[in-house]
Amino acid sequence: MKILIIGSGGREHALAWKISQSPMVKKIFCAPGNAGISQLAEIVPIKLEKKEQLLKFALENSIDLTVVGPEQPLNDGIVDLFLEKNLKIFGPTQAAARLESSKVFAKEFMKKYKIPTANYRTFNRNQKFDAERYINETPVPIVIKVDGLASGKGVLICESKEIAIAELDNIFVHQKFGEAGSSIVIEDYMVGEELSVFTIVDGENFLILPPAHDYKKILDGDKGKNTGGMGSYSPVPYVDEDLMNKIKRNIIKPTISGMIKEGSPFRGCLYFGLMVTETGPRVVEYNSRFGDPETQVVLPLIENDLVEIMLASIENRLNQIKLKVKDDEASVCVVLSSHGYPDDYEVGKKIFGLEKKFQDILIFHAGTKFDNGDVITSGGRVLGVTSSGRKEKFQQTVSNVYAAVEQITFDGAYYRSDIGKNVYFK
Ligand code: GLY
Repeated sequence: MKILIIGSGGREHALAWKISQSPMVKKIFCAPGNAGISQLAEIVPIKLEKKEQLLKFALENSIDLTVVGPEQPLNDGIVDLFLEKNLKIFGPTQAAARLESSKVFAKEFMKKYKIPTANYRTFNRNQKFDAERYINETPVPIVIKVDGLASGKGVLICESKEIAIAELDNIFVHQKFGEAGSSIVIEDYMVGEELSVFTIVDGENFLILPPAHDYKKILDGDKGKNTGGMGSYSPVPYVDEDLMNKIKRNIIKPTISGMIKEGSPFRGCLYFGLMVTETGPRVVEYNSRFGDPETQVVLPLIENDLVEIMLASIENRLNQIKLKVKDDEASVCVVLSSHGYPDDYEVGKKIFGLEKKFQDILIFHAGTKFDNGDVITSGGRVLGVTSSGRKEKFQQTVSNVYAAVEQITFDGAYYRSDIGKNVYFK
């Protein structure tokens, strides 16, 4: 098979790595890819937003399966476009991708199908005064979410009512988020443990992949600004069968059956961003694609051929697949980022140490490119250093990752030093 992967981050590098292990795969292309992905795939210089060009490429090169990494092309309807031409593509249609691309849709959907989530109200630009009144009635912290996609920056946790009202002005008056901010959700702040659960769905049937923890904050101890994710591990020790059954019964099943009732069955990877609260698991958000950097730790734990799973998702036959997970293993990923990230950062720094032979280490590239034979930084998140090993030796796996991280350098390289620390499996 010839496979086309769309995207250019650590998630797409992990997907390319796993897909390259399939005996069915003859060649992988990746658009637009990065320096690391180019070791596994032929790089195609087409940008994410050029869906017609991506379609043309797939048709001209007889691509057998296209895999979409990021949310933007899904929201732009790339799956619908490819399906019209009878091309196989892994991911949800534009209508199904609304679970991620419209926070208002997602919240109203959860209310309709009684899926546990935070209490909320929605407002549009014409309802600014109602939104202010609601803020004044709601206990702090207050969470404001812009309706549309905002590259991970559209969720604002406001510690005071004054901050919430100032953010409201930024969104509705100064239009900081453009059209994505034409409607908002204001919701209660949930307290608990954040948990990422990926499912692969074929419209009706689903597989649940091992749960993962994502470190969203830039600083050790979960302090500082939100990022795309500074590290991850999988599975998560406290998630037992009982909790997983609750998640399945109260959240996963009603979401999948609800989307069928809405006339938009979901196919692809449906990612449940959860908060495990005192009163049980609740949905923080849905994502219509694999998460980053959770994919980097989840895929190494899967024994199945990922291409077979993706084809079964497209062809509505996931009930024929038995998921095989490396139950006695756990994995961890530490992200190296550019100085300044998640605010402004410099790129173009030469990366040293990538050629070293590290034992049991996978280095997934996120923001890298080639420059005259050197690998240089080209993004906020640069690399995801990953390893897996036996669960009972997890702290050794963590030390192994950090030993590798210390030997990979570039000007301004930053990483958290507490990823996977204090995580123990019985
Ligand atoms: N790790 C969070 C995300 O992929 O959105």
